[in-house]
Amino acid sequence: MNVSDAVKERTSIRAYLDKPVSETQLRELLDIARWAPSGGNLQPWRVHVVMGAGRDRLVAAVKKAIAENPLANESEIAVYPPKLGEPWRTRRFEIGEDMYALLGIPREDKPARIQHLMRNYEFFGAPVGLFFSVDRQFDKGQWAHLGMFMQTLALAATEMGLSTCMQEAWSARAKTVSAFLKLKDNEQLYCGMALGYADPSADVNKLRSSRARVADFADFITE
Ligand SMILES: Cc1cc2nc3c(=O)[nH]c(=O)nc-3n(C[C@H](O)[C@H](O)[C@H](O)COP(=O)(O)O)c2cc1C
Repeated sequence: MNVSDAVKERTSIRAYLDKPVSETQLRELLDIARWAPSGGNLQPWRVHVVMGAGRDRLVAAVKKAIAENPLANESEIAVYPPKLGEPWRTRRFEIGEDMYALLGIPREDKPARIQHLMRNYEFFGAPVGLFFSVDRQFDKGQWAHLGMFMQTLALAATEMGLSTCMQEAWSARAKTVSAFLKLKDNEQLYCGMALGYADPSADVNKLRSSRARVADFADFITE
């Protein structure tokens, strides 16, 4: 698989087969992802893998925390700005509507929409969950480098026939997850990622997001 194909083939997968991914595969994947670039070669990322009984324990711990306090928001980061302007607001709205249309959940059916959102906290059924953290001393630069690492990992996973879904949703349960992962005080959790084999029969996996045209986001200064 060439890089362009991997970039286009990677999509967010939100339903997985009950098919395990081995620790050997995970280590191989991380062994590729570690070649992601970072300013000053700081390699500021830390990765926390949950799989097997570890994954199930985490899912159970978060489920318990949600049952105890359903509305808690433990996020330290604003996943979106409070007043998301255009064109970003429309993009966010459209991808959400397209996803719920595939799932057959209308706008009025809030409980069903929430129920689907809650699937985030089961990694959408994926056998592996990854979490990414950075040291608290780092600013936006190193956070950007973490993003490069995550995308490199997702592309390498695609090449290995694996699927992923990055999940900022976990940040709403950052305290619970950080405690479970035994993160040190200086470590800040950013994001989760579901990883496994896509369920080809699931309608939600047919979701294809659109992208702005190059002319909409790129300026060329030629003289
Ligand atoms: C950092 C990051 C966090 C994301 N968090 C979530 C999430 O919590 N739940 C979810 O279902 N999708 C999540 N997504 C997936 C985005 O909705 C998706 O990437 C976007 O709509 C583009 O679709 P594509 O990934 O299929 O190309 C996240 C994506 C990124 C890059």
